[in-house]
Amino acid sequence: MPRNLLANPRFGADPFTLGVASGDPASDGFVLWTRLAPRPLEPLGGMEPRPVAVRWEVAGDARFQTLVAQGEALAHPELAHSVHVEVAGLAPDRPYWYRFRVGREESAVGRTRTLPAPGARVERLRFVAAGCQHYEQGLFTAWRHIAQEPVDFVFHYGDYIYESADHGAGPFKANGRTYDEVRRHVGGEIYTLDDYRRRYALYKSDPDLQAAHAAVPFWMSFDDHEVDNNWASDFDQDGTPPEAFAFRRAMAMQAYYEHMPLRRSAMPQGSHMQMYRGARYGDLLHAFVLDTRQYRDDQLYGDTLAPLGPEAFAQRSIMGAAQERWLYDGLAASDTRWNLIAHQVMVMNLDQRKSPAPGAVAGGTPTYSMDQWPGYMANRRRLLDCIDTHCKGNVVNVTGDAHRHYAGDLLQDEGAPGAEGKVISSEFLATSIASGADGKGDDDAYSRQVRADNPFLKATTDKRGYLLCDIIRKEWTGDLKVVDKVTKPGGKLSTYARFIIENGRPGLNRG
Ligand SMILES: [Fe+2]
Repeated sequence: MPRNLLANPRFGADPFTLGVASGDPASDGFVLWTRLAPRPLEPLGGMEPRPVAVRWEVAGDARFQTLVAQGEALAHPELAHSVHVEVAGLAPDRPYWYRFRVGREESAVGRTRTLPAPGARVERLRFVAAGCQHYEQGLFTAWRHIAQEPVDFVFHYGDYIYESADHGAGPFKANGRTYDEVRRHVGGEIYTLDDYRRRYALYKSDPDLQAAHAAVPFWMSFDDHEVDNNWASDFDQDGTPPEAFAFRRAMAMQAYYEHMPLRRSAMPQGSHMQMYRGARYGDLLHAFVLDTRQYRDDQLYGDTLAPLGPEAFAQRSIMGAAQERWLYDGLAASDTRWNLIAHQVMVMNLDQRKSPAPGAVAGGTPTYSMDQWPGYMANRRRLLDCIDTHCKGNVVNVTGDAHRHYAGDLLQDEGAPGAEGKVISSEFLATSIASGADGKGDDDAYSRQVRADNPFLKATTDKRGYLLCDIIRKEWTGDLKVVDKVTKPGGKLSTYARFIIENGRPGLNRG
């Protein structure tokens, strides 16, 4: 035990204000997470800067009548009194319940589950993909609905927090519309470790988000706003010298690690975190969780919407060489019925041209987002070639970031002169939990334009929600879930569209 251990801690308030979480499941265990923060918005969450011992318990039933594992973990002030427990030695493919204790205080109970044994035959698997949860722009109603879904895991594609300043009192604007104030960030744009910690504490105080974490294990990944808008490896978007930006990135990574159910292998080393990783759900699914921020070449053309010039086809990577090799080797060796590539930004070559007249549906020059895969066409070509060679018709890409649902097919070199136009894979891009406020739906000028200009795009709407996938051996079903409003409580859930992919036959079919 450390010499400075705080024995018999007293908090004066519930220390479990940020809830509990589990993640990175294996066939014999998972990571359990909590953070002690009796006054979450204060420095160190209102804790004394001394280590504290926290008890943890795992049971085979919700009433904790059959304890199967227990122990003690230290919550260190260096890591904001977060607790990361890697539990092992449990049975595969079954639910477990967990809780924490410190002093006289007890946490909420969380439910999680282990993966099936690696070779086991698995008939069915369900998961949710979600992210982009701007706290000021909407309530986390969609997380409350996710907490009720009978799923095996959640893939979080990123934008867990937003780094931006408090928008101030009163109405705010999102996507050209004005909404009454929903809720506000605390403080200005975040730069310091304390700033990032306070921002996570604010977001994690949300009861709907806590309910989702307590209900199901998460595979976490980050995108840009966990650090700074549209950052790319050593570069931010403001032209900060890389050696200075590295300090901000290191603080952002530390705070991210502190607040997520991640394994010790992800603990930051300076400004780097090892985040890309794989998981196997028996013989049904291999999941590859990518990191398309830390290793990417800087965005082209000033990171704007731009036509595809020769530079977009040059030897550049959004993944970095080592991660590309890891993914292609993994896909080549994969023997599961399905493969999931779970990542952050759009793979579709979505032409987002502006029409000459507002609202018109013809004309203009095709333009693409340089922050997404179209800015990295050589990497995109290598990825689709690998899928076509090794995993015909059994790879599904799940992404996010664009604050609206997009479902479409992936064609090799779409947008390039002489492209052959063969469907190789499909993509479900999950809409945001809250970013963009209520949204306009699917019949505004932008929606009409992208549908007209992109025949491989099968559906899009900018309502808030999440993606629900239901996988059986012969079919992969994706439901685009939407909530009707997030700027007021009580948003109702519905399914905007359903698509089915048949195993071995690439392409989306209307369900
Ligand atoms: Fe976002």
